[in-house]
Amino acid sequence: MSSKQDKPFSQACENNKTPILDVLQHYFKNSRKVLEIGTGTGQHAVHFARNMPFLQWQPTDLSENLPGQRLWFGEAQLPNLMSPLVLDVLDQNWPVSEFDAVFSANTAHIMPWTAVEAMFSGIGKRMPAGGLFCQYGPFNYQGQFTSDSNARFDESLKQRAQHMGIRDFESIEQLAFLQGFDLKQDIAMPANNRVLVWYRK
Ligand SMILES: C[S@@+](CC[C@H](N)C(=O)[O-])C[C@H]1O[C@@H](n2cnc3c(N)ncnc32)[C@H](O)[C@@H]1O
Repeated sequence: MSSKQDKPFSQACENNKTPILDVLQHYFKNSRKVLEIGTGTGQHAVHFARNMPFLQWQPTDLSENLPGQRLWFGEAQLPNLMSPLVLDVLDQNWPVSEFDAVFSANTAHIMPWTAVEAMFSGIGKRMPAGGLFCQYGPFNYQGQFTSDSNARFDESLKQRAQHMGIRDFESIEQLAFLQGFDLKQDIAMPANNRVLVWYRK
């Protein structure tokens, strides 16, 4: 992330927000309250709340990212975009309990695996049956990278921190099954990313 006009800025978010919106507009069409985990800069939240006014969008993240998000949200002035809340998925108590959809982008390869587990169990505990969790990011399949660029990305993540790295789809799927989710769809996205759509049984 670099700084542009004081607001945190991610070029990747600018590139992927429209293809992700196309997916969310389809899967979240009957949803009402969306919890976003690991909101990051806030660019996604603004774009999705603006283009899906029927949704109440609740951004959350580790506390250090909230000041930057507030710059984006203050400027956007969207009635359906809630003030960001602090949520570390490892915390026992989450600041939100009522939601029927979850969105999280590029978090599973950044969090330690224990946090990925906590994210699924936390959502599983709180989301009613029929809810949807759209998870965006790069994933490996049968232990293989889907592109050379993902392999290089994984190497750079591991240099940043040993706990980081692109996750195996099969490990995520096993975790999801244990928490009562079924895979509804696995959608190929630009730049070797995916959206995994998890359905809470
Ligand atoms: C690579 S950034 C992705 C940000 C944004 N979703 C995007 O796609 O640009 C990873 C995000 O995961 C968040 N994160 C890492 N560990 C977390 C945890 N334990 N609980 C909640 N969020 C966490 C970080 O604060 C950061 O916002």
